[in-house]
Formats: sequence, C-alpha cells, structure tokens
Amino acid sequence: MSPPLLTYDLSLLDRSERKWRGSPALRAVYGDIFSEIGRRLVPGRTLEIGSGIGMAREFIPGLVTSDIVATRFAARGVSAYDVPREEWGNIVAVDMLHHLVEPLRFLASAAAALRPGGRIVLAEPAGTAWGRIFYAWFHHEPCQPGNVRPPFRFAAAPGGAFANMGMAHVLFGRERVRVENELREHGLRIAGVRYRDLLAYPATGGFSHRALLPAGLIRGLLALERLVPQVLMRFLALRLVVVLEKDASA
Ligand SMILES: C[S@@+](CC[C@H](N)C(=O)[O-])C[C@H]1O[C@@H](n2cnc3c(N)ncnc32)[C@H](O)[C@@H]1O
Repeated sequence: MSPPLLTYDLSLLDRSERKWRGSPALRAVYGDIFSEIGRRLVPGRTLEIGSGIGMAREFIPGLVTSDIVATRFAARGVSAYDVPREEWGNIVAVDMLHHLVEPLRFLASAAAALRPGGRIVLAEPAGTAWGRIFYAWFHHEPCQPGNVRPPFRFAAAPGGAFANMGMAHVLFGRERVRVENELREHGLRIAGVRYRDLLAYPATGGFSHRALLPAGLIRGLLALERLVPQVLMRFLALRLVVVLEKDASA
C-alpha cells in the first residue's frame, strides 16, 4: 500500500491545541458546531475522520477519533479513502473534506463502511459571497469555488499540500444534482444541508488571532444567527453542515 498523501501539515496541531485550551470564545463556537453535529447522528458507533486535536470528543460522547496517521490526539490512523468497514452508525468529519483531492472517493469509502440507515455528517467552510471575502482576508488556505469542477479530482501542490475551502459549497450547492446522482450509486442521499456562522466565528479570532468579544456575547450572537433565514445564509454563511444518509436497505 502506498503511504498516505499528507495534504495537511500536522505540525500545526500543537499550536491549535494551545489556542483551543485558552480560548472560551473558540470553544463556544466549535462547541455549537459539534452539538449541531451530535443532534444529526443516528444510533450506533460514531467514527470521526481527520480529528486534528480531537475537539469533537468533548461534545460527542463515545466518539472514536482518527487521523490520517495515528497522533497523540487520535489513536487510530485512518485514511479517508479507506474507512474501516465496521458497520458504523455515523461517520463525521469537520474541516476535512476540503483537504481531499478526491472528495467523492471518500464519500464512497464512508458509505461502504456505514451500516444501512447510517449517516455521514460533515461541517465545512462555505465559499459563499461573504465566505470568500472573509477567508481571503483571514485564512491562509485558498477558497476557490470556481476551481471545484467535475470530475472533482484535484492536484496537490508539489509538496503534497491541498486545500480548497470552496469545496463543500460547490459539491452540495451548485453541483448538487450531479453529486447526488453519483452518491446514489453508493446508496447515499443528501438528507440535509444547513448554512451557519456569520459574525460569531470571526469574533472568536479563530486559531490565529485574539478574540474580539467575550464568550457570553459570542453565545448571544450564535443564538441571533440561528434566526437568519437559510435563503440569506446561502450568501452569507461561513460554514455548512451536510447530512448524507445511507439507504436503509443497502
Ligand atoms: C483542518 S484539519 C481539521 C481538524 C479537526 N477536524 C478540526 O476541526 O479541528 C484537517 C484534518 O483532516 C485530516 N486529513 C486530511 N486529509 C486526510 C485524509 N486523506 N484522510 C484522513 N484525514 C485527513 C488532517 O490530517 C487534519 O487532521
């Protein structure tokens, strides 16, 4: 078997962990994202792909964490393209899909590893109008929805790095019908797409900057953002949560 393609620099994790421990603001927003994921899960064991520092474990009881190679945060080394077929109830991934050069191959592999009726739940950056501006200014990874085109296979940089934060907004938005047709071959259907995060997330300062507001105010902003209609969020949101469900008879 060939060694896994490391599209993400795992040496960033130690710094992320320090920031995570020291920022109540960041915990408020990510806690809200993980709780939303938790509400979408169906009964059964849950595997996370690309766990990074394993933040999700604090919010999703019993979560099995993994990363492309075993790390001090995730005991299991699991490639997104080779998900272990252990009849998982749920497979979740946060900010992982946009690092994949073959995102649909991951979804096929995850589908094969789910029990019938199981779910894949993804949280990803959204390359909306506001998302493109925000990520261009405040994030080091590219957000280029225009480059996300069929057959959805991408080339990594010479050193192996790859990211396109516009990935999920295109796959489950502009190209939804085409992607849905491909997913159907693997017994998957799109059960839900919800856009979220507007101002509360920028106010946390992310993993690189200082928080602009205390955690209490950030929680208030998150509650207000939930009231914004999805029709507007499709242009303004910074993230989306996608739920895919495997046919109960597959
Ligand atoms: C941006 S980090 C996100 C980490 C964590 N989920 C979070 O939200 O903080 C992307 C993660 O995806 C993992 N990843 C990238 N490509 C992968 C692959 N082919 N298989 C498994 N994990 C992968 C990286 O190692 C990294 O942990």
